[in-house]
Amino acid sequence: AYRIAVFASGSGSNFQAIVDAVACKELDVQIELLVCDRPQAYVVERAKQAEVPVFAFKPKEYPNRQAYEKEILQQLEERGIQLIVLAGYMRIVTNVLVDAFAGRMINIHPSLLPSFPGVDGIGQALAYGVKITGVTVHYVDGGLDSGPIITQQVVAILAGDTIETLSERMHAVEHELFPQVIGWISEGRVKLEGRQVTITA
Ligand code: GAR
Repeated sequence: AYRIAVFASGSGSNFQAIVDAVACKELDVQIELLVCDRPQAYVVERAKQAEVPVFAFKPKEYPNRQAYEKEILQQLEERGIQLIVLAGYMRIVTNVLVDAFAGRMINIHPSLLPSFPGVDGIGQALAYGVKITGVTVHYVDGGLDSGPIITQQVVAILAGDTIETLSERMHAVEHELFPQVIGWISEGRVKLEGRQVTITA
């Protein structure tokens, strides 16, 4: 099966959604590795439950980002990883991984890019007062949430929404959308040409 590695930093609800989609055979991929930059994060527990191998590291123990990414890259190569899936991985990815996985690394972001890149896309949208926001899945390039967009789904912001109520609806959309996109890619249905992404039937 198609071999993926998931990178995450926190709760890992998106990691769980991918695990669950594989378990119920909605998604035919092999989750070969979880990469996590916070060994205490709850996502590590989820991986252990799901019997997914974990590579956890503490960025502070390395001289720079490239140094830990070289170790990650070695892990990915040993396991024959075909796609990196960033699922709430809250670190800038450097040229070490971007170059090795050009066109083979995707990220999920909680806004309609190019609006509200970076941290707290949900809070940024609420604070700005936009009436619609959404979820973006995109390829990762060298910039901050700037790579070619694969798909987006709209989420309406409702009167009285708080971070909590909006986050709940955003997460529900993410958990549906991300496994679906991983499936398309694993089936060879997603074509990337420059910035243009097309999905075939
Ligand atoms: C998700 O909402 C994801 O879109 C966001 O982090 C959350 C992780 O939740 N990613 C970013 O903000 C990337 N800049 P999870 O740990 O429960 O999957």
